[in-house]
Amino acid sequence: MAKALTIGLLTSGGDAPGMNAAIRAVVLAADKNNCLVYGFYHGYNGLINAEYKALSPVDVDNIIHQGGTILKSARCPEMLTEEGIKQAANTLHKAKVDALVVIGGDGSFNGLIALKPYWQGQMIGLPGTIDNDLDGTDYTIGFSSAVNTAANAIDNIRDTANAFDRVFVVEVMGRHSGHIAFHVGLACGAEQIISFENFSPKQSEQKLEELYQDISYLKQNREQSYLILLAENLWPDGPQMLAEQLKQQYNIDTATCILGHIQRGGSPDVKDRLLATQMGISAIDTLLAGISEVMIGEVGGKIATVSLNEAIKHHKSARQDYISGYQLLKANLNRD
Ligand code: F6P
Repeated sequence: MAKALTIGLLTSGGDAPGMNAAIRAVVLAADKNNCLVYGFYHGYNGLINAEYKALSPVDVDNIIHQGGTILKSARCPEMLTEEGIKQAANTLHKAKVDALVVIGGDGSFNGLIALKPYWQGQMIGLPGTIDNDLDGTDYTIGFSSAVNTAANAIDNIRDTANAFDRVFVVEVMGRHSGHIAFHVGLACGAEQIISFENFSPKQSEQKLEELYQDISYLKQNREQSYLILLAENLWPDGPQMLAEQLKQQYNIDTATCILGHIQRGGSPDVKDRLLATQMGISAIDTLLAGISEVMIGEVGGKIATVSLNEAIKHHKSARQDYISGYQLLKANLNRD
């Protein structure tokens, strides 16, 4: 029997826990609906270099709990050039691909949109990024796991910080948004959250003075550690510089920890496995309904679609109620 659709599938950009669960759901749902799936390897490089293979249900056995991505991932500068885009489109034509499903973040969806003039197949984006910065979905695949991983690490840091009554700067990922910073900061009771939503690098001198006042007050009145949760790509010259400035300008000893890629690895939590599974199934339903150029999202607990252009137009900013919750608790911190 002829296949209903031939679907290309790839993971692109920063990997995120739950990408494998999404791959599994796409492959199983496609198989159920008599569609063929080609998995392309190493992100868009797999399209440019025609590196792909047909994926059947047996290929996705026992991957739902694994971090990373069995299709590998990459950032692909060639997709920013006309030649690269044409080459990718050429592979899709040659392999007779009817539809392409890309699991990734905004850069990955830009790649899909760039293909449009050269390849007229259906396109679906699945939000796979720990940053949670895509519009049109409350949560992206990988965010919840990254937040849990970071929170567990910070709880450990808190124990040793408490033992020494130490000041710690901990840097979390998020690229240019503070979803991870505010979720983790609030969940771990950070005394300071410094993120894009409440700080600009121009205010660094002011912030140093505030930290000094805050830390001095707490040290005089209680014995405790002080945790500064810092979003990456924000403090001028990074967290180490913040620690040095506190030492040099105010004689405050400060330890530094950059959580980095630890946040991207590990087994996806249940929330991400379920989100990825629902989104993967929905990707196939959406394709079979003849819909294209959308991202599958989850809004208010329900699967929803949003146009790819809308999804990447703005970076969704961190939850306002978490930002104000942090501010409220912080304002009370210095009261005896
Ligand atoms: O977009 C996911 C992400 O982990 C960001 O949080 C981070 O800024 C970036 O990727 C790191 O990218 P790379 O692994 O290429 O250094």
